[in-house]
Amino acid sequence: MPVTYNYEYPKQLRTGFIGCGGHAYRNVYPTFQYAPVDLVAVCDLDPVRAATCAKVFGTERHYSDHMEMLAREELDVVFIVTNVDEDGRPRYPRLAIDCLRAGVHVWIEKPPASSSAEIREMIRVSSETKRHVAVGFKKMFFPANVKAKEIISRPEFGPVTSITARYPQSLPPFEERGDQRKMVSFLDHIVHPHSVLRLLGGPIEWIFVNRNCAVGSAVVSIRFTSGAAGNLHLSAGQSSASFLERLEIIGGGENLVVENNVRLIHYRRSKSKIEYGRSGDYFSALTDDSAPLYWEPEFSLGQLYNKGLFLLGYAPEVIQFTTRLLDGKDPAYGTLEDALELLQIYEAYRMPDGIIHPIKESS
Ligand SMILES: NC(=O)c1ccc[n+]([C@@H]2O[C@H](COP(=O)([O-])OP(=O)(O)OC[C@H]3O[C@@H](n4cnc5c(N)ncnc54)[C@H](O)[C@@H]3O)[C@@H](O)[C@H]2O)c1
Repeated sequence: MPVTYNYEYPKQLRTGFIGCGGHAYRNVYPTFQYAPVDLVAVCDLDPVRAATCAKVFGTERHYSDHMEMLAREELDVVFIVTNVDEDGRPRYPRLAIDCLRAGVHVWIEKPPASSSAEIREMIRVSSETKRHVAVGFKKMFFPANVKAKEIISRPEFGPVTSITARYPQSLPPFEERGDQRKMVSFLDHIVHPHSVLRLLGGPIEWIFVNRNCAVGSAVVSIRFTSGAAGNLHLSAGQSSASFLERLEIIGGGENLVVENNVRLIHYRRSKSKIEYGRSGDYFSALTDDSAPLYWEPEFSLGQLYNKGLFLLGYAPEVIQFTTRLLDGKDPAYGTLEDALELLQIYEAYRMPDGIIHPIKESS
């Protein structure tokens, strides 16, 4: 789908923004070049940061109190990109609820909360105020993951039978997991691989954690509700020069690999039988209509698809949320239901190692 530039949208959303920190400056404000967003006001506890973002991203008004911004401005939507509080808890639930109660839709970054109870409260207030909330689970919008989802949804791929993923993250020892301040990094990052697993494998029934004490790496066995088997390798201890991620999905006679979040290889169903002991070359065994398909960007042209803003899902997630809002629709991905499952998974990781942690509640 061709990308529409900000000034080409016939209608735009009057937008406020809470948070003028590093990530917002680098990766979220710039997405508005491609979304139906009229940035009306920004807010940060630090007035200098707020004034800087207002100037750089082209709005006259800035605030250091979000309640004042909500009271003074007429807004359709507010983006929130803030940090954690002194207890290591993301500030999103309280800020998002303030915005919902002021009658505006909300987009929040990850991690959306530190407990599933807070997500439930956001779901309750969102439904009460009839305002939508989207969460920045960017990996659900990476072009490579979206293409993977399309391929595995085809009937010829067969049902997803197993998935393996890799993500470098250290899991604190069990005795520290009750302390949210010691879990900040884990909570911050664990939603990344699990949002991809949710996109491609669906909901999870349980996890079983096999952890290494030296570096906190782990191999996590996963059972999807669909019956698919999963494996998440939390590869802490790897070289800092290494690629970070690799994902493989197996169907029924086909599979695909996403390497480094950009390279996608689809191993298609073989049309001919490869005779063991008699095949002298590997070309005649794989016909042109069954040989693997391989995609990666060319990184030569000034195309949007070569920008991190698109490759890492930032622009697509904001475009999805804002254009659907203009159509009167809730977000399709990065929903509070996605957030609820991801926080239930986070809570399962806080249980003792080696136990099968059920994700779904019995009620
Ligand atoms: N998706 C990604 O790839 C990605 C990457 C980096 C960070 N993040 C997320 O983005 C968020 C921000 O991270 P960061 O590194 O930019 O943090 P940061 O500390 O640089 O910025 C946070 C900003 O929020 C402001 N703030 C906090 N509470 C506020 C309030 N009540 N009202 C107004 N402003 C307030 C702070 O003053 C600060 O300027 C975090 O949730 C982080 O996990 C996501």
